[in-house]
Amino acid sequence: MSTVRHFLWVMKPAWITSLLLLVPAALCFAEPLIIAHRGSSASAPENTIPAFELAWEQQADGIEADFLLTKDGHIVCFHDKDTKRITGKKLLVKNTPLSKLRQLDVGSWKGEQYKGTRIPTIAEVLATVPDGKKIYIEIKCGEEIVTPLLREIEASTLTKNQIVIICFKAGVLKAIKQHAPHLQTSWLCNLKKDKSGKVTPTHETICKTLEDIHANGFSSSHQNINLALINKVNEAEIMHHVWTVNDPAIATRFSQWGTASITTDKPALIKNAIKTVPAP
Ligand code: G3P
Ligand code: CA
Repeated sequence: MSTVRHFLWVMKPAWITSLLLLVPAALCFAEPLIIAHRGSSASAPENTIPAFELAWEQQADGIEADFLLTKDGHIVCFHDKDTKRITGKKLLVKNTPLSKLRQLDVGSWKGEQYKGTRIPTIAEVLATVPDGKKIYIEIKCGEEIVTPLLREIEASTLTKNQIVIICFKAGVLKAIKQHAPHLQTSWLCNLKKDKSGKVTPTHETICKTLEDIHANGFSSSHQNINLALINKVNEAEIMHHVWTVNDPAIATRFSQWGTASITTDKPALIKNAIKTVPAP
């Protein structure tokens, strides 16, 4: 027997033991979904069709996009309440009709190559989502958007498994569940730490809110969250999601903590970082 074969023979029992330990771990371990925040927004103008298309090219598992109602009741993809930061001209979205908002250039600020990019409607954004991929629809206004939003979702070709509705306002998500219990929701919560080190909201408040609104998910900022809270939420069969993570080391930590999805401005970078993480 050659030296190498002899070594393998001696090592055989150890191999079998390792395999027995690793196989169940691999079966339990699922990589988090990588969700492109406002599209692939580190490279392309946020909340625009070029940013969403780039996210799909970069193999993101989903996109996250912000939505507001216009004066004339259309739903547009836009983050801020007004257009000053992105276009230099201040128009309040809720006080402006779609036709006027569509005249604005929302691409130039990110680079000359994006000059002339227009604010997309929700229908245009939904139409970019490929089969099997997801969209996290963030509601940036109040309950007045619920009826038109459900109409737009109904009119799209997306299935219920492709959509997650997210919002900071728990009441808005509660209304979504009342009107469309088949849709997934996830409550956005910014965890804040005061000077004494106390983090708010408390774990109890978070769990009570999630239960009250029948949320499927808990989406937290990446600061001030620990594994104890994630475990507590998971025990209630609620998934944890995190935003906005652009650092591979932080993304790796959340992957190891069992977080269901990571929202990032840099989907290619983060997807690659997660792939190279061994199962815990
Ligand atoms: O995915 C949640 C995150 O987008 C919330 O913050 O300000 O980027 O909409 P913001
Ligand atoms: Ca958002």
